[in-house]
Amino acid sequence: MSAFGDNIKVSVFGQSHSAEIGMTMTGIPAGKRVDEEVLQRFLDRRAPGKSYSTPRKEPDRLEFVSGIKDGLTDGGTVKAIIRNVDIRPKDYGNLADVPRPGHADYTAAVKYGDERGKTGGGQFSGRLTAPMCIAGGMIIQFLREEGIEIKARAYKIGKVTDSGSFPENDIREDFPAVSEESAKAMLAEIESARAEGDSIGGIIECVVTGMPAGIGGPMFGGLEGKISAAVFGIPAVKGIEFGKGFESAAMKGSENNDAFYFDENAKVRTRTNNCGGILGGISDGMPIMFKVAVKPTPSIVKEQESVNLKTGESVMMSVKGRHDPCVVPRAVPVVEAVTAIAIYDTMQGSE
Ligand SMILES: Cc1cc2nc3c(=O)[nH]c(=O)nc-3n(C[C@H](O)[C@H](O)[C@H](O)COP(=O)(O)O)c2cc1C
Repeated sequence: MSAFGDNIKVSVFGQSHSAEIGMTMTGIPAGKRVDEEVLQRFLDRRAPGKSYSTPRKEPDRLEFVSGIKDGLTDGGTVKAIIRNVDIRPKDYGNLADVPRPGHADYTAAVKYGDERGKTGGGQFSGRLTAPMCIAGGMIIQFLREEGIEIKARAYKIGKVTDSGSFPENDIREDFPAVSEESAKAMLAEIESARAEGDSIGGIIECVVTGMPAGIGGPMFGGLEGKISAAVFGIPAVKGIEFGKGFESAAMKGSENNDAFYFDENAKVRTRTNNCGGILGGISDGMPIMFKVAVKPTPSIVKEQESVNLKTGESVMMSVKGRHDPCVVPRAVPVVEAVTAIAIYDTMQGSE
């Protein structure tokens, strides 16, 4: 369940408050170049410590244990870890038997009973997205060598939509949106939710360019399914749509169909990209485009109704501890990472 892939296998391990978190990856050929500095910078985009994130201080320093020598994969299992350094299980003392509404505490209690990791969300914690970024960050480098680029941005937070054009423009360094004005307005939305002891959700947009046509397959092995399965591995994701997605349900065929033409290199292209670059589960050579709905962070200071699973009483609860008032900005590189894993895995099976 914490592993992904049919042709490669990425496994994520650890918990919010375990000594370390990490990943193993098998099926990667020998001789693939991994630039550790570039990978660390990728991890830094997800790491906490930004104005919009949890105050938990985790430097997220990458340590390779095996599978990499002198910057090249050696064909063996790649294992990498990150040590957890800022652990405060006491923050969760009052939550042990009172499940946070919106979090996985209740369902974990039903499934794992008293043996579950009770603090910090255990293996359901957003911290486990750091190892996803190690695996995905490596694969992003492999795909880049083949001319495939993956870019995501915060498309919408609360009521604010990013007005910058994407993917032609890069996201900002200080906030993962294109337009400076939109980034400021998004930060203001997050700040006002935090000030109210509340949280806020949003939408992430992801675009994959340079994708060759012909990758994927019909039915359950299709690219949409593979990408969706990987994206739903990210906690707090509640929806995904490719191309026009739900909007296409209200369109006519004549409006929705993407007309074909030959470009100047006699390559088949489409005039529009309402299908999001995938037809019949197979890439059509246009950019793969999808949007991901991210719910508001479950842990909030505002009082909510819950139950004490030990005493059987109804209780009111407020979540103190350290939490992201909005998951969206930190989840942007995670969407890029898992998309890379899903595409690379599918490509190995398509050959
Ligand atoms: C990068 C990231 C950071 C997160 N930080 C928090 C957090 O600080 N507090 C919290 O309650 N949930 C946080 N979440 C979301 C929860 O982990 C998630 O909602 C919970 O595990 C339940 O899973 P579900 O929402 O997918 O059903 C975060 C998610 C991600 C991707």
